[in-house]
Amino acid sequence: MSDKKINIAVAGATGAVGNQMINCLEEAEFPVGAIKLLASSRSVGRTLRFKGDLIAVEELGEDSFKGMDIALFSAGGGTSQRFAPFAAQDGCVVVDNSSAWRMDPDVPLVVPEVNSHAIAAYTKKGIIANPNCSTIQMVVALNPIHQKYHIKRIVVSTYQAVSGTGKKAIDELFDQSRAMINFLDYEKKVYPHRIAFNCLPHIDSFLDNGYTKEEMKMVNETRKIMEDDTIGVTATTVRVPVFYSHAEAVNVETIEPISASEVKLLLEKAPGIKVMDDPGKNIYPLATDGAGQDLTLVGRIREDESVANGINMWIVADNIRKGAATNAVQIARVLADDYL
Ligand code: A2P
Repeated sequence: MSDKKINIAVAGATGAVGNQMINCLEEAEFPVGAIKLLASSRSVGRTLRFKGDLIAVEELGEDSFKGMDIALFSAGGGTSQRFAPFAAQDGCVVVDNSSAWRMDPDVPLVVPEVNSHAIAAYTKKGIIANPNCSTIQMVVALNPIHQKYHIKRIVVSTYQAVSGTGKKAIDELFDQSRAMINFLDYEKKVYPHRIAFNCLPHIDSFLDNGYTKEEMKMVNETRKIMEDDTIGVTATTVRVPVFYSHAEAVNVETIEPISASEVKLLLEKAPGIKVMDDPGKNIYPLATDGAGQDLTLVGRIREDESVANGINMWIVADNIRKGAATNAVQIARVLADDYL
């Protein structure tokens, strides 16, 4: 670990995740030298606070990364696709939260608790991808099980918060809820259906195979991060009227014999996890427990009585923090400590 100060750019600084990235840098006491906050031309003139200072937001451009060491991107796939190569060209390592680079074989896809070693491959393109939020919390909880018992198959259903769609979706849930409670007409701008008091089995766009892109991200990214293409994964992803925190009902089948009590002991010792599992006292992770903190919460751990070596569990984490900003800042920390 060195005392070097790291110059950081945040692209998408005015967004839900970008804003949290700035908070995480501050909370983690990251050794920030200069900081540059970047967004679209719409945000020029705005200021954001970092460690008590007001910093002017600048328009993201091809020359934004000169003199910067690490750029945290969360400004959408198209923006990452276009601007990340300019950052890399200027020697600024990109940690990208969009899906633009995740499946590129020359870009590591990293959850530090699972495959921190993969960060070394950042030199190939100068880009590291931050995985999909639902995938991050699932692999944090499942990797310790895979290492010991070898996972054969994963069946997951998600209950995902609107903040994953960005600020406009947070406003939409709030506005629709308020309108409905007051018997007023509501508007639909972000989702194809009303999200207030509803559940939408539709996240990201539909593909020819009948799955959504979000579902296939969970399949492909899980295999890439856990470095095992033999794991079968099938997902149903659902948007629910919750502001912060994704929850997941997960069923796993392992090759080695497994029991619920062994899984509890294993996860209690695993990094980044808190087990909350005492059904007799109504203790299990709630979305509200996940929100505003950085751990992945696991509960309802029980044997699947319909199959050999099957376990059911419930996994909750803050989608904006561990599912996005915290994970990106953790990656940046490993980069700063071990590589730059
Ligand atoms: P802006 O606020 O100027 O539109 P969210 O996911 O919460 O909606 O946030 C998206 C983030 O990405 C915002 O900071 C937004 O900036 C930024 N962004 C979107 N499009 C661009 C673009 N073309 N260039 C730079 N930043 C962009």
